Amino acid sequence: MKGIYVAIAFLAASTVSVVNSDQDFSEEVFLDDIPIACPLPQPNWRNTTTNIPHENNCVLFYKCKLGQGIEQICPLMIEGDPESRLHYNRRLQVCDWPWQAGCASCPIQYPNGTFPPPEKINNPANDCEYLQCENGHALGPFRCPTDTCFSRTCQECVRDRNNGKCNWVPMCIEGDRRLHDCYCNFYEECTRINGQLHWIQHVCEGGIHFSPTQKRCMLPNEANCPHIRHL
Ligand SMILES: *[C@@H]1O[C@H](CO)[C@@H](O)[C@H](O)[C@H]1NC(C)=O
Ligand SMILES: *[C@@H]1O[C@H](CO)[C@@H](O)[C@H](O)[C@H]1NC(C)=O
Repeated sequence: MKGIYVAIAFLAASTVSVVNSDQDFSEEVFLDDIPIACPLPQPNWRNTTTNIPHENNCVLFYKCKLGQGIEQICPLMIEGDPESRLHYNRRLQVCDWPWQAGCASCPIQYPNGTFPPPEKINNPANDCEYLQCENGHALGPFRCPTDTCFSRTCQECVRDRNNGKCNWVPMCIEGDRRLHDCYCNFYEECTRINGQLHWIQHVCEGGIHFSPTQKRCMLPNEANCPHIRHL
C-alpha cells in the first residue's frame, strides 16, 4: 500500500495547479474554481500546470500544455494488480482513491464530516447521461438533450465532448431562431416537441437568406449572412 502514497505525492507535487492572482485567466476556463479548459499562455505566464478531467473515463485526464490538453493515465492503485488505477479527482486536480475522486461514484464525505460541493458524474450505465451528486447521494440519471452527451470535463451536456472539448449547445428558448452553421438559406427554430425543446431546421424559400440579426428570411443583400455558401 505504500506505493499509492508515493504516487499521489508525486502527482500532487508535479501537477497541482496553483492559480495565482497575477495570472489573468479568461473567465470561461473555470467552473466553480475548477478548470474546464486548457488556459492559453498569458503575458505573466509561470509554468504552473493545469489539469482538466477526461470527458468520460475516470482513469484519464488531460495535462495542459500551451493551451492544449495532453492525455495522461492515472497510476496503478495496488502493487501486484496490473489493472486497478487511481481515478482523476477534478476538485483537487490529482489522481486519487476512486471513492474520493467522485467519478465512478459520488465522492464520500471529508474526514471533517462535510461533503464535497455538488457535481455531476457520468452515469456508469450510460456515459452519455449523468448523475447529480449531492451530499454523497446520486440523483438521476438525467438524460442529455438530443445530439448531446454529458462531459465530465464541462459538467454539462455538450455537442462534441471528445478530447475534453466543451462544445456547448446554444440554449434553446422556445421561438428563438438562429442561422444554420453553414448555409445562408437555412435557419433553425427552437420548437417544443412532446414537451422538450429542440432546434428544428427550416429553409428560406426562393433564394432568400436568413438574417442573423433580424432573425427572419430577407433579400440576400439585406440579410448580411456571414456564410459564403448557399444550398
Ligand atoms: C516556461 O516554459 C517555456 C517552455 O518550456 C520556457 O521557454 C520558459 O522559459 C518557461 N518560463 C518560465 C518563467 O519558467
Ligand atoms: C472540511 O474539509 C474539507 C476538505 O479538507 C474542506 O474543504 C472544508 O472546508 C472543511 N469544512 C469545514 C466546515 O471545516
